Amino acid sequence: LTQKKRPSVVYLHAAECTGCSEAVLRTVSPYIDALILDTISLDYHETLMAAAGHAAEEALHEAVNSPEGFICVVEGGVPTIEDGAWGKVAGRSMLEICKEIVPKAKATICIGTCASYGGVQAAAPNPSHAMGVSKALGGVTTVNLPGCPTNPFNFVGTVVHYLTKGLPELDNEGRPVLFYGESVHDNCPRLKHFEADEFAPSFASEEAKKGYCLYELGCKGPDTYNNCPKVKFNQTNWPVEAGHPCIGCSEPDFWDEMSPFYEQ
Ligand code: SF4
Ligand code: SF4
Ligand code: F3S
Repeated sequence: LTQKKRPSVVYLHAAECTGCSEAVLRTVSPYIDALILDTISLDYHETLMAAAGHAAEEALHEAVNSPEGFICVVEGGVPTIEDGAWGKVAGRSMLEICKEIVPKAKATICIGTCASYGGVQAAAPNPSHAMGVSKALGGVTTVNLPGCPTNPFNFVGTVVHYLTKGLPELDNEGRPVLFYGESVHDNCPRLKHFEADEFAPSFASEEAKKGYCLYELGCKGPDTYNNCPKVKFNQTNWPVEAGHPCIGCSEPDFWDEMSPFYEQ
């Protein structure tokens, strides 16, 4: 992986909260400095790059037109109403930028539920007509890594997989089966309590502290496909282990389809 010429990565921001960038900054295997200094060449990333203004735009232009090609990463949903005028970077709409750059990329990775399926800005009533990148661009193939935020393990794992073995196998939502092939519920440490009909009656209850199942408090783990219980965040913890129900953050339209998040 520490090859001489590191593959170029162009990281675009559309409508998002930058939480997925924040998560990637905290990757531990490898650490972010090893990732961007030894493994890839992060040629454009508005919130991480030192350059600003015209210099940043020039870096983007150079990377996109390099004969070696580039991998595109998109964070954020794409507003499409009024020809994308509701979301702009450097005077151009996010829709126009994605339309120009994504088709030129060797592969496009959508980091986060926003880029994958639209995310919170696509929740009803979706005033900006925000969509995931694939839908906004008429069905272009993207590798979707949903999660709000995406677990950095899944992002780095996908990049490494692409560099060593090519694109990973995807499910019918565009997610790598390797990371999203099982439900949260399948691997949950509280599953034995679910199977024994042992449910926590409230977040403050003794049963919740003892690790009883959070299903009756709103947990969406049975309908959510992600590897949180196996890899955790930063190999430390994940929502259900911390006592919070899974809200289904890696499923399409989860803000509308999975709410209310709490039942008590
Ligand atoms: Fe932020 Fe969530 Fe969208 Fe990531 S998926 S950019 S964390 S709102
Ligand atoms: Fe399934 Fe949620 Fe209960 Fe875990 S807490 S066993 S994911 S319903
Ligand atoms: Fe998201 Fe559920 Fe995992 S809320 S972080 S998919 S436990």
